[in-house]
Amino acid sequence: MTAIELLGLIVAALLLQLTAGIGVALLRRRAAAATAPALPGPGAAAPSKSAWAGWREFRVVQRAYEDAAQTQCSFYLQPVDGQPLPAFKPGQFLTFTLDVDPPASHAAAEPRTITRCYSLSDRPDPAGYRVTIKRVPAPADRPGFEPGLSSNHFHDRVQVGDLLRVKAPAGHFFIDPDPNVPVVLVGGGIGITPMMSMLRWCLAEQPQRTVHLYYGLRNSREHAFKAVLEGIAAAHPALRLNVVYSRPGEGDVEGRDYQHRGHVDVDLLRRTLPHGRHQFYVCGPPAMMETLVPALAAWGVPRPDIHYEAFGPASVKLPGAPEAAAPTAAEVEVRFQRAGRTLVWDGRDASLLDFAERHGIAVESGCRSGGCGSCETRLVEGAVQYEHAPDHEVAPGHCLLCVGRPSSAVVLEA
Ligand SMILES: Cc1cc2nc3c(=O)[nH]c(=O)nc-3n(C[C@H](O)[C@H](O)[C@H](O)COP(=O)(O)OP(=O)(O)OC[C@H]3O[C@@H](n4cnc5c(N)ncnc54)[C@H](O)[C@@H]3O)c2cc1C
Ligand code: FES
Repeated sequence: MTAIELLGLIVAALLLQLTAGIGVALLRRRAAAATAPALPGPGAAAPSKSAWAGWREFRVVQRAYEDAAQTQCSFYLQPVDGQPLPAFKPGQFLTFTLDVDPPASHAAAEPRTITRCYSLSDRPDPAGYRVTIKRVPAPADRPGFEPGLSSNHFHDRVQVGDLLRVKAPAGHFFIDPDPNVPVVLVGGGIGITPMMSMLRWCLAEQPQRTVHLYYGLRNSREHAFKAVLEGIAAAHPALRLNVVYSRPGEGDVEGRDYQHRGHVDVDLLRRTLPHGRHQFYVCGPPAMMETLVPALAAWGVPRPDIHYEAFGPASVKLPGAPEAAAPTAAEVEVRFQRAGRTLVWDGRDASLLDFAERHGIAVESGCRSGGCGSCETRLVEGAVQYEHAPDHEVAPGHCLLCVGRPSSAVVLEA
């Protein structure tokens, strides 16, 4: 055999190996695609691929109160461009930017543009989205404060036909699509909204999967989606509905309006859940988040089966959670330039946003999870680190306070 023939043989063998390798890789990919759990449903577009960048205009096509007290209002939205909407993962939220005027009682305040996030409260539908917003008054002990800007703007000013600027669905709090693990959805107050989305998706896509819904609230006046939930529970034996009133009203009847009196806590879950593995999803007021979430871990629920989202500041401390386990720089100075304050970061807070809020420094925030960009702040000096790369693309020279921790002394423009 000549040297050229030998070279030819080697090249041919290499080509054969390459082709076989590509073939195997393609087969593996196809098999993986066939077995990957489908979220959110047949025919639905993959959320990340078809979601839009930046702001998209939506028209409000319907409004509907969900509770007797009329403090929780659903807004149904359709895209102005008429294009089908990308699917989302049940549990995710939308981000809105709003131009708000001060309420009449605070007429001296300036009009301003704000950003807020609201969970999608129904299952994915290419024709439209729904969010449900609770009106937030001034704190009971500070009646002189302006009432909640965005929620009151929605309730008082946003009408059918109005246009809203909306960012694509985002967030890391969404249902695990494994149909073999029963889910436990725990919604406190307005924290019921992502649970409605998960529940409706489960019933439509995985009707055999058992869903235990625990809904904690005060009484029937603020019982959102009451008739809807009772109708679903009557029609779907896979849903185990547990409504828990902490302060039943005079006409509220146990067994008819609610199933339990008190709060949603681990004792109640122990008494009412069957043995076996469950995936837990918790969203509620700070008191619920700060007690129930660690209690689940203490009860022995494995960390990957506990999912939670707070709608505002809440210091949830889970044993072994990254924020408790991996303090960044031990003690460094953090200077808030505009506020004119220099403080010492001691690694106690989960993020610079929590740190700023704990010290009473006014900073913007929305999702609190690195998705909406509203806490983006100019980093004048120093370095900030993230445990995971944030979804929002951070502008050069800026940082996200809600998921950032200082890795050196920092100066922030805030
Ligand atoms: C991921 C995510 C999903 C969410 N989903 C929902 C949802 O589905 N439905 C829903 O209703 N909400 C939801 N929220 C909460 C929502 O984003 C807003 O935080 C909520 O509507 C309050 O916003 P606001 O502008 O009305 O109130 P803000 O203007 O932010 O005010 C909040 C409170 O602060 C008080 N305040 C005013 N001035 C001061 C001051 N100087 N010092 C201290 N306090 C003051 C106000 O009176 C009010 O009580 C969600 C939040 C997140 C992060
Ligand atoms: S609050 Fe949304 S990115 Fe920080």
